[in-house]
Amino acid sequence: MKDMLELLAERRDEARLGGGERRIEAQHKRGKLTARERLELLLDHGSFEEFDMFVQHGCTDFGMEKHKIPGDGVVTGWGTINGRTVFVFSKDFTVFGGSLSEAHARKITKVQDMALKARAPIIGLFDAGGARIQEGVAALGGYGDVFKRNVIASGVIPQISVIMGPCAGGDVYSPAMTDFIFMVRDTSYMFVTGPDVVKTVTNEVVTAEELGGAKVHTTKSSIADGAYDNDVEALLQVRRLVDFLPANNQEGAPVWDSFDDPDRTDTSLDTLVPDNPNKPYDIKELIAKVADEGDMFEIQENFARNIVTAFGRIEGHTVGFVANQPMVLAGVLDADASRKAARFVRFCDAFSIPIVTFEDVPGFLPGTAQEYGGLIKHGAKLLFAYSEATVPLVTVITRKAFGGAYDVMASKHIGGDVNYAWPTAQIAVMGAKGAVEIIFRGMDADGIAAKTKEYEDRFLSPFVAAERGYIDEVIMPHSTRRRVARALAMLREKQVETPWKKHDNIPL
Ligand code: HXC
Repeated sequence: MKDMLELLAERRDEARLGGGERRIEAQHKRGKLTARERLELLLDHGSFEEFDMFVQHGCTDFGMEKHKIPGDGVVTGWGTINGRTVFVFSKDFTVFGGSLSEAHARKITKVQDMALKARAPIIGLFDAGGARIQEGVAALGGYGDVFKRNVIASGVIPQISVIMGPCAGGDVYSPAMTDFIFMVRDTSYMFVTGPDVVKTVTNEVVTAEELGGAKVHTTKSSIADGAYDNDVEALLQVRRLVDFLPANNQEGAPVWDSFDDPDRTDTSLDTLVPDNPNKPYDIKELIAKVADEGDMFEIQENFARNIVTAFGRIEGHTVGFVANQPMVLAGVLDADASRKAARFVRFCDAFSIPIVTFEDVPGFLPGTAQEYGGLIKHGAKLLFAYSEATVPLVTVITRKAFGGAYDVMASKHIGGDVNYAWPTAQIAVMGAKGAVEIIFRGMDADGIAAKTKEYEDRFLSPFVAAERGYIDEVIMPHSTRRRVARALAMLREKQVETPWKKHDNIPL
């Protein structure tokens, strides 16, 4: 028996060494942790249960039968994050560059299947060179099996991808179909084809960082939802995100103890909106002052900054905040902002997370760049996402709610449950001057000025909308947290019947 125990211990030690000391050292020299070190940080201490530690590939081409490493380049299993079950797979770059073989893919699909059965989130840590080149089509088939499961699980359990090294070829498409992607600055990159292929095909000369580094994907392509300075920070932030999320689409998000009084008022909000309607202010201040303990987790912080999307909590319950940001492009809705917010709204709706919308939007951004770029279809994504949402929708108009953007931002007409406005709200088809210049084309300057004043007095207030019941109440800014908290509490058991359909046809 003792021999058997020793044998097991030896085999475990061998497996835990992955590609060996030399490659582990190389990994550390690059500022990267190993696959197992990452899991230790991601999961609660001592909670990791590993599966398939001894799985090996079955490839016999190119002398591969002589090169077998237990685990075959990916560490899989489950553990807990603050006591809640999550499934994990962590690519081991020290073993064949973390590349995906048939056996490696089977390990991943096994935890995908288990996560779906157990209705618990799955988190993938990526650091890999794509398909195992020696295996050819067997590896491609393995990717297909992973992709299909990503799609089946989409909207059922949260799926999170963290890119912590190279992520190329087949490896990029699985993350792309998950709910959130995070990257590590300077050590990770994602692309379908690398710089060498790019040079051959298009003659462009780019570095891996320029082609698919964290900066590119968090500011230009919007592929990634956030970037962090190192592995430790990235993993700790993923733990934080998981605390906001439900385990699956039938169980609500966890309710954490909150020591922040839901009735807390904040008089500084009474002066948040400047007297000059063209002066910006920071909408994040409002989110921080409304959320429990000012705690928020922003998604896509550095992309389309004219709209803010963030998770926070009210009375310990997770909410998704969507807010126009007057500090950037006056908070206008453009194609990027619409896409960003639409995806966030759909995630919240899929996972029963109520949405709180703070609105200060001068309309959709005009111009050929936007129209040629498909603004109509991208704007429709946000309109569609809010309109199909059945989670509680609470909206507060702080200042401008102009034009189509008024309808889009969770207005009463498309399903807003409780719609409030601050006294500073201006709800109209457009700004006063633009409106008057169209209605009274040809009128002299004095006349235009007089009519502008008349338009401002009549329409640039919350009261015309309130008179029609489009706004449920005009509220004091300082009591926003209390009013929103009460509305959300009232809506906690909200139910909506929708006609049967296979699925909708959101404008993609
Ligand atoms: C097998 C691989 C591998 C791969 C890396 N390795 N990629 N083994 N299959 N795809 C091995 C290397 O042989 C090496 O083994 C070790 O991993 C580390 O690789 P290095 O090249 O020394 O490391 P580095 O210089 O950091 O470069 C990392 C890299 C590079 C950028 C990822 O290895 C690379 O370009 N790999 C190939 C990427 C690629 O083209 N993959 C196929 C994509 S096509 P030793 O023994 O020396 O440590 C694809 C199609 C799927 O994925 C499509 C589905 C939709």
